[in-house]
Amino acid sequence: TPLQPFNTFGLAANSSGFCLLEDINTLREALPLAASANVLALGGGSNVLFCEDYEGLILKNALQGRTVRESDDAYHLHVMGGESWPELVDWTVAQGLGGLENLALIPGTAGAAPIQNIGAYGVELAERCEYVEFIDFDGGGLHRLSREECRFGYRDSIFKGELQGKVFITALGLRLEKQWQPVLDYAPLSELAYDGAEPHQISELVKSVRRAKLPDPSLLGNAGSFYKNPTITRTAFDALKEGYPDLPGFIQADEQVKVPAAWLIDKAGWKGKRLGGAGVHQHQALVLVNYGQATANDVLTLARQIRDDVEAKFGIRLVPEIRLIGASGEFSL
Ligand code: FAD
Ligand code: EPU
Repeated sequence: TPLQPFNTFGLAANSSGFCLLEDINTLREALPLAASANVLALGGGSNVLFCEDYEGLILKNALQGRTVRESDDAYHLHVMGGESWPELVDWTVAQGLGGLENLALIPGTAGAAPIQNIGAYGVELAERCEYVEFIDFDGGGLHRLSREECRFGYRDSIFKGELQGKVFITALGLRLEKQWQPVLDYAPLSELAYDGAEPHQISELVKSVRRAKLPDPSLLGNAGSFYKNPTITRTAFDALKEGYPDLPGFIQADEQVKVPAAWLIDKAGWKGKRLGGAGVHQHQALVLVNYGQATANDVLTLARQIRDDVEAKFGIRLVPEIRLIGASGEFSL
């Protein structure tokens, strides 16, 4: 099966097995196959780079359905994993439900949202997540983890740790408080920081800010941020700042400082650079793009050159956020 239509970077690769999962029974039937083949769960393909033909079975999440239950103080959404995340956000906002508006326009499925704990404009999925349901490839049982059990962190969760490659996420539980509080701390949203901003105004502003910086994958292949924003010690930050007074930094709880990878890549001179069919986006240096004919080798070579150059210049080693998939599964840059 050609995978080009199933990943937003638009790299050409094939997979030896492919199954569209529209109901949980099909998933259970596929499990014996999964036991004997390399199996890879796939959502919208907006955070993966298919670097080789995949020798195994790809299970594409098409589980659909949403239900809402009301309690005294919240709305509780049960969302099947194959639902589109950005459509879900729009649907809640259109009904006047607040809580997800800062996470508007993030591509992909609801089922993948907890994996890297998607985040943007001051909100992370973890803050709205009530539980995650999955089927494990070994026993085929359906399990539910609470938010605490998911061990969410910045672009991290148990699904990138001990459960990586072992489960298929089938559903996501979200809790939207009736006492909604807008989150407007992120600089571009501060223009709405007056009494009475509604969820739909925030989501519209988030969308316009995103559209100005991030390339639309239907026009220019990409998978969002290629690397995570690194965290360094306060001492390392202060030392760097002497050489680079304009270095931005966000102080974290534990005396660490998060530094924008985009700034490091930009400062190192990579913005707008091209290698073969791949390039560094002109408006956001953290996004690598496919100008149409990029090969996996173009992207990987460019990504390694950027990582090594940033390390040589700033002493900070960037780690990919995107998931690199080879013939038999995930690998590191
Ligand atoms: P996929 O790319 O299909 O899969 C990602 C990983 O999860 C793979 O390893 C896959 O094997 C695994 N997986 C997928 N589904 C399942 C499942 N059901 N069970 C088990 N494992 C599974 N992310 C942010 O956090 N914030 C942003 O602001 C943001 N902006 C973006 C902007 C653009 C233009 C793009 C292209 C991407 C952006 N991303 C952002 C990244 C991406 O949207 C998220 O990582 C999203 O959650 C990926 O969802 P997906 O369904 O496409 O996952
Ligand atoms: N900057 C530059 N050059 C650039 C772009 C940005 O110097 O080309 C600097 C600016 O100083 C800016 C700072 O970098 O203030 C941060 O940039 P931006 O606000 O665009 O956010 P980011 O840190 O690059 C992160 C997430 C995004 C998320 C935005 C908004 C990561 C890895 N990325 O990007 O998530 O949408 O914040 O909250 O944490 C994704 O994960 O795929 C993604 C797009």
